[in-house]
Amino acid sequence: MMEYEERITAASAMNVEEEVMELSLRPKRLADYIGQKTVAENLKVFIDAAQMRNEPLDHVLFYGPPGLGKTTLAGIIANELGVELRITSGPAIERAGDLAAILTNLNEGDVLFIDEIHRLNRSVEEVLYSAMEDYALDIIIGKGPSARSIRLDLARFTLIGATTRAGSLSAPLRDRFGVVCKFEMYKEDELMEIIRRSASILNVQIDDESLRALARRSRGTPRVANRLLKRVRDFSQVKGTGAIDLDITGKTLKSLGIDELGLEGLDREILRLIIDRFKGGPVGIDTIAAAIGEERVTIEDVYEPYLIQAGLLHRTQKGRMVSQEAYRHLGLDPQGEEQMSL
Ligand SMILES: Nc1ncnc2c1ncn2[C@@H]1O[C@H](COP(=O)(O)OP(=O)(O)O)[C@@H](O)[C@H]1O
Ligand SMILES: [Mg+2]
Repeated sequence: MMEYEERITAASAMNVEEEVMELSLRPKRLADYIGQKTVAENLKVFIDAAQMRNEPLDHVLFYGPPGLGKTTLAGIIANELGVELRITSGPAIERAGDLAAILTNLNEGDVLFIDEIHRLNRSVEEVLYSAMEDYALDIIIGKGPSARSIRLDLARFTLIGATTRAGSLSAPLRDRFGVVCKFEMYKEDELMEIIRRSASILNVQIDDESLRALARRSRGTPRVANRLLKRVRDFSQVKGTGAIDLDITGKTLKSLGIDELGLEGLDREILRLIIDRFKGGPVGIDTIAAAIGEERVTIEDVYEPYLIQAGLLHRTQKGRMVSQEAYRHLGLDPQGEEQMSL
């Protein structure tokens, strides 16, 4: 049960079936990209300007929690520019030579998307500096006193970097991005529109009340919204009529252990832990991670953003604290517990 619950939110556990689904649900044009208004509108201007000047788009950095549409938007940008998109990720590029091979294969104007760019190792990152700034590679040939450096010209490309944590990027790398975009969690009506669009692609009927119910429990995140939709579709197919109504939606959410705020088992576990064992906090993130048995980064990148956004959890100098709202949400009495006032 727990494992199943976690999959709705978890960023990592994506199986093949799900990747195929994500691909089919991904909008291809800017006009189909819902929400994220500021980012989308600004990018439209930069794309148009670059095209008018017949220049490559400046390098772009996307940051924000997982599932908010960073990869999707990178694909859209390449599409709108009419260029090739090359996708890789920080951990996938192990050596400087790997990156050099990718860079030398790019054509004029192409988009190179590096996901989890904060996880590039140092030597690889250094190759990127001159590539981004001068569209050139400095390669050292030979070893010792006879070693010499040659400069290799690259096609003028656009780097789009994505990260869940802008703070982990080194300053020299961050400074080389001309455009930096922060992704915000989606509003309820935007998520409704996303689910409506996905339902139509998946060819499943869904009424407005169910759309709203799912949107409210999607943690502001399109990826979660699409996962929920898919699970309700399963339930509806097996236990209902095939169409999605409030009845089957409610049953599905209950079976998945998802509450009115969209919290699932692990979210509640985190809050309960801080309340039961640490009197509401403050408690350090490493202590929480150890007690829950999850990686610290998973808690920080995947679970915490929404708990904070929902006003249930606060980050303080001394650690994490739950809010009065968290007690109420869990049906506990904040006064009954000995709690440090916020
Ligand atoms: N603005 C959007 N409009 C419609 N669907 C979206 C939007 N953003 C994300 N999605 C959906 O959510 C899924 C996850 O988005 P993705 O780009 O992979 O997120 P990220 O790269 O930020 O983790 C995509 O498959 C896509 O279907
Ligand atoms: Mg992504």
